[in-house]
Amino acid sequence: MVSIIGAGPGDPELITTKGLKLLQEADVVVYDRLIQTSLVNQSKRSAERIYVGKRAGSHSHDQHAIDRIIIDHAKRGKNIVRLKGGDPFLFGRGAEEAQKLKRARIPFTIVPGVTSAIAAPAYAGIPVTHRKYSSSVAIVTGHQDSTKKNQVDWKKIATAVDSIIILMGMGRLGKIVRELIAGGCKRNTKVAIIEWGTTNHQLTVTGTLSNIVKKVNSHKLKPPAIIVVGEVVGLHRTLNWFKSSSVE
Ligand SMILES: C[S@@+](CC[C@H](N)C(=O)[O-])C[C@H]1O[C@@H](n2cnc3c(N)ncnc32)[C@H](O)[C@@H]1O
Repeated sequence: MVSIIGAGPGDPELITTKGLKLLQEADVVVYDRLIQTSLVNQSKRSAERIYVGKRAGSHSHDQHAIDRIIIDHAKRGKNIVRLKGGDPFLFGRGAEEAQKLKRARIPFTIVPGVTSAIAAPAYAGIPVTHRKYSSSVAIVTGHQDSTKKNQVDWKKIATAVDSIIILMGMGRLGKIVRELIAGGCKRNTKVAIIEWGTTNHQLTVTGTLSNIVKKVNSHKLKPPAIIVVGEVVGLHRTLNWFKSSSVE
């Protein structure tokens, strides 16, 4: 049996009780880069812990090796936990791993997780919806394989929803900002970047579409980070509750 579990966004207490129980019972834990060590350490002492973290930009070539590790251990009758950051079905390749298991006739379960797309803004006091400011939200990847057919149409997204949440967007922030403006977003649209959300290193930088790239460069912000675009960012000032750094 393989359990594909969402570990949550960073704060180790944000795993679900179901996920934690399965983790504590696992014989083998296969885990990703952004998973906190204290969470992995919740597994049994005898459990085999296998790190399969990938660096940005080197995604695809070792996915095959990860699939092999999971399938080989499962075929030996082990109880496997595949621990993935945030929610396994949101930009996490959880579905692709489940498809491989299905093909190999290995039973699996999926345990959803708290996604960084919503939790990182929440820890910065930014709700992704609000009756007054936002009744629609889109979660978009900023990092796409340029050979893919279904490229993100930033110009369409610009005016289609009230809140835009971008994951993996730091490397292409300048291009995304330009396209959102070209698509109809005002230059003074509010933007927040939340680096290492829900962790002790959380840093929130707020600005507008016209100055956010400059601010990101001057504060040397790096992934992992969530980009929030929209009126809801304005609530950061009043609702920021989590003890962390914030720069305007
Ligand atoms: C491959 S995606 C995985 C997303 C994950 N499945 C989820 O639901 O959160 C990785 C991206 O998620 C975002 N991310 C994950 N953890 C984060 C955190 N603690 N703070 C800010 N962004 C985070 C970053 O944009 C990062 O580049």
